[in-house]
Amino acid sequence: MVAGVAGPGGVFAAVVQWQAVHGRHGLPWQGSPDPYRVWLSEIMLQQTQVSTVSRYYPVFLARFPDVTALAQADVDEVLSLWSGLGYYSRARNLHQCAKRVVSDYAGAFPARSDVLARLPGIGPSTAAAIAAFCFGERTSIFDGNVKRVMARFLGFGEDLSGSAASQQLLALTQAMVPTDAAGSDMGVYTQGLMDLGATLCTRSRPACLACPLAEGCVARRTDQQAVLPLKTRRVKRQTLSLYLLVARKPDGSVGLERRPAEGIWASLWCFPEFSDRSLLSRLLGVLPMPSVTDWPVVRHALSHRELVLHPVVCEVAHNWEPPGSKHAGAWQWVAPGQPVQGGIPVPVRSLLAQLANGCTPPAL
Ligand code: ADE
Repeated sequence: MVAGVAGPGGVFAAVVQWQAVHGRHGLPWQGSPDPYRVWLSEIMLQQTQVSTVSRYYPVFLARFPDVTALAQADVDEVLSLWSGLGYYSRARNLHQCAKRVVSDYAGAFPARSDVLARLPGIGPSTAAAIAAFCFGERTSIFDGNVKRVMARFLGFGEDLSGSAASQQLLALTQAMVPTDAAGSDMGVYTQGLMDLGATLCTRSRPACLACPLAEGCVARRTDQQAVLPLKTRRVKRQTLSLYLLVARKPDGSVGLERRPAEGIWASLWCFPEFSDRSLLSRLLGVLPMPSVTDWPVVRHALSHRELVLHPVVCEVAHNWEPPGSKHAGAWQWVAPGQPVQGGIPVPVRSLLAQLANGCTPPAL
């Protein structure tokens, strides 16, 4: 434990010291102050685990080594390399952001968090992380993990679903950064806060005995780790049932259509979707279908929706084409197991993998 955590600059010093010894090191995006690399990793890490990003990041970086290469890319290739990371709006914003950095800033990321936060896909917390890591800006990140650490440490009992309370906690968090914080320490502190939230000050069963802030932590002293941070308004996910037409030709290839440019999974490649089984049956009714099989449902959680997907596998003739002209240029036959150009939503990818393996997904 580090003495004097409660004093001025105590939290900062304790977190910096702790990170150097116990924090996460050697991750593929660490060790370079290149804003392009840091920005790319922070966007990937926004809603995806470190272990997953560690696999995708080097591949993405090898194909797009700098912001100009990314800005010049076709969005379909960007989405394709993003396939598996999910939350595709991040990939679209990433591409837009690269274009803006090239067109408005001659390819050099702006150095200030308030300017960064005006670029596509960069929220205030990500902007603070990039500015602290790359430019030593004296600004604190304030993501979900950091809110939890700070609410517990300070014994902050206001409801963080409200933006006023959140702003109040942000101001208190920012005040933890000493006025004379040195540039490189800002990066260590930023990483340390994230590491602390991810590895010790976890949502349930925090490891207080190992925490460098334990000495001054109000939640620990008053035994409130389980109730802080207080959040009363929880997102209730709406359930949405969808029927997916998996049209399969005798050679095993299956038809994917490109989704509209707006809405869920915008512009990604997906099986044609129907809101109820009878609409799909009506389409099947006008087709000479030798065999139709309902596969077990697949559940997939989006940020505000829970999708209940019902795949309906239809064996179609080798010359079958989807009805209607809307498919011009927005339809492709893919052989399961072969790479697909363009982004594919995670549950569709796993269905393609099941098709490639010749098995149905496990029933839920
Ligand atoms: N989550 C967001 N940014 C991160 C980082 N730099 N390291 C680990 N997890 C993170």
